[in-house]
Amino acid sequence: MPHDTIVVLDYGSQTAQLIARRVREVGVYSELFPWDVPTERIMALEPKGIILSGSHHSVYEPGAPTLPHYVLDSGLPVLGICYGMQLLTHTLRGKVAPSQAREYGPAVLTVDGDIPLWAGLPDTLDVWMSHGDRIEAPPPDFLPLAHSHNSPVAAIGNPDRQIYGIQFHPEVSHTTHGKDILANFAIRVCGCRPDWTAGKVIDDVVEQVRRQVGSKRVLLGLSGGVDSSVVAALLHKAVGGQLVSVFIDHGLLRQGEADQVIETFRQAMGLNLVAVNATEEFLEALDGIVDPEAKRKCIGELFIRIFEREARKLGEIDYLAQGTIYPDVIESAAPDRPNAQRIKSHHNVGGLPVDMRFDLVEPLRYLFKDEVRRVGEALGLPEEIVWRQPFPGPGLAVRCLGEVTWERLERLRAADAILIEELRAAGMLRGETSQAFAALLPVHSVGVMGDGRTYGETVALRAVTTDDFMTADWARLPSDLLARISARIVNEVANVSRVVYDITSKPPATIEWE
Ligand code: XMP
Repeated sequence: MPHDTIVVLDYGSQTAQLIARRVREVGVYSELFPWDVPTERIMALEPKGIILSGSHHSVYEPGAPTLPHYVLDSGLPVLGICYGMQLLTHTLRGKVAPSQAREYGPAVLTVDGDIPLWAGLPDTLDVWMSHGDRIEAPPPDFLPLAHSHNSPVAAIGNPDRQIYGIQFHPEVSHTTHGKDILANFAIRVCGCRPDWTAGKVIDDVVEQVRRQVGSKRVLLGLSGGVDSSVVAALLHKAVGGQLVSVFIDHGLLRQGEADQVIETFRQAMGLNLVAVNATEEFLEALDGIVDPEAKRKCIGELFIRIFEREARKLGEIDYLAQGTIYPDVIESAAPDRPNAQRIKSHHNVGGLPVDMRFDLVEPLRYLFKDEVRRVGEALGLPEEIVWRQPFPGPGLAVRCLGEVTWERLERLRAADAILIEELRAAGMLRGETSQAFAALLPVHSVGVMGDGRTYGETVALRAVTTDDFMTADWARLPSDLLARISARIVNEVANVSRVVYDITSKPPATIEWE
C-alpha cells in the first residue's frame, strides 16, 4: 500500500536531509529531492504536501534557485523553511529584503494566530535562526503568524490555501518544538496518516524484494556491520533459502566479532552462510606494508578477489544485495554537493566485483541510518549488532599503525576489548560516544613494572561524539574512567607500556588514525 508522502525540495541547506528525517520520525514518509527535479518524479509519488528547504542563496541573487510551477499549481499544502519562505514570499509578490542584522543562532519566537501549524504549542518558542534576508511584507492574502526580536515577520501563512512559511529551522534540535511543528504540518495540515513504522517498512520491503527477485538467487557480502546485517535479516525474511551470504573473515576484526557474526546468522537465524577464514591470505598480502593508502588498497583488492572466488563456487546467481542507504542515494543525486576531496579511499565489504554481472537488490535504499536500526531491532537482531558503532572496511589494519602482524593485531584487540568493556560498564557506549576504539602505535617507550624496566608499544584511545561522522569532537570521558582503562591495558596487555588519549577533533584530524 502506498504511503502518505511529504516531499522535501532541497535548496542546498546543510540541514535539508534532517527535515525529511524529522518528518519520518513523526511517522510520516518523506523523500528529499533536488529542487529542480523533473515534475513527473514528484507527481508520481502523489505527495500530500511539499516542504521547501533553506538555502545559502538569496532570492534576489542572479541565478538563485526558483519555485517550480507545480508547487503552487498542484494546490497541495506547502511549508517554506527560511529560504523556502522567502521564495514563497518573493514569488507571491510579498517583500523580501536583506535584514540589517544577520540573524544566526538561537532566538525567541512569539507565535501569533490560531492555526493548525501552531496546534498544541506554547506562545513562545526557542528557535534556531540562520538567515540574511527577511520578510518585510507578506504576500497579499497572507498573514504574519509569528515574530522574533530581529524578524518582525518570522512566519507567514494563508490558511485557506494551506501555504505557510517559517523563518526558523524546525528540523534542528535547538528549535524546541520543531518536531511538533513538522508533525502539525504533515498530519494536521496535509492530513497524512502517521503509519511509517518499522513493521510497515519491513512488510513493504519484503513485498518489493519478492516481486523483484522472484525465484532467483541473491548473493550478499555480510560484514557484520549494521547495514549488511539488516539486509541479511530482511532478505532472509523475504526470500529465505534463495539468499546466500558470504562472510569473509580477514582477520582484522575486533575480539570475538567473527564468532558472533557466524553464531547470530548461521545458528540463531538459520541463514545460508558461507564463512571464509581468509586471515592468512590477508596477513601475507599485508606483509611489510606500512603506508595507510597502500594498506587500504591491498585489502580492498584482495577482498573483491576472494569474494569473486567464493561467488563463482556457488554457481548461477542473478542478484547482488547491497546495503546502500538513503543518504548515499541523496548524495549521488545532488551534483551540486560534490564530495569533499578524497581524504581516504573507503572500502566497503560487498563492493561490486569488477567483472561479474549482477543486478542489484538494495532493500535499505530509502532508509536513514536510525530507521535501519529500528528495522533491525524489529527483525530481532541482537543489540550488539543493531547498535554497533561504525567500523572501517579495512578493519584493524588501519588502527594498527606500522606493520600489520598477527601478534600486534592480538595486542590491539586485547586493548580495544578493555576500552569497550569499560565504556559499556560505565553506560557510555551508546549515545555518549558515537565511536570509540583503540589504535596501536609503533612507538616504544620506557616503563617500570614491579622492579623491572619495560619497553613496550603505545596504545592510543580514541572516543568521539558526532552526528554525521563528517565532523567530530573528542568525547570528554570522565578522568577516573580513563584511569581505569589505562591501568587495565598496561597491566593486562603484554608489551604495552603507555596509554594516551587522543584529544583532536575532526577536522583537522580524522576519526581513524590512518
Ligand atoms: P574518518 O577516519 O575518515 O572516518 O574520519 C569517518 C568514519 O568512516 C569510518 N571509516 C570507514 N568506513 N570503510 C568504511 O565503511 C572504510 O574504509 C572506512 N574508513 C573510515 C570511520 O570508522 C568513521 O566512522
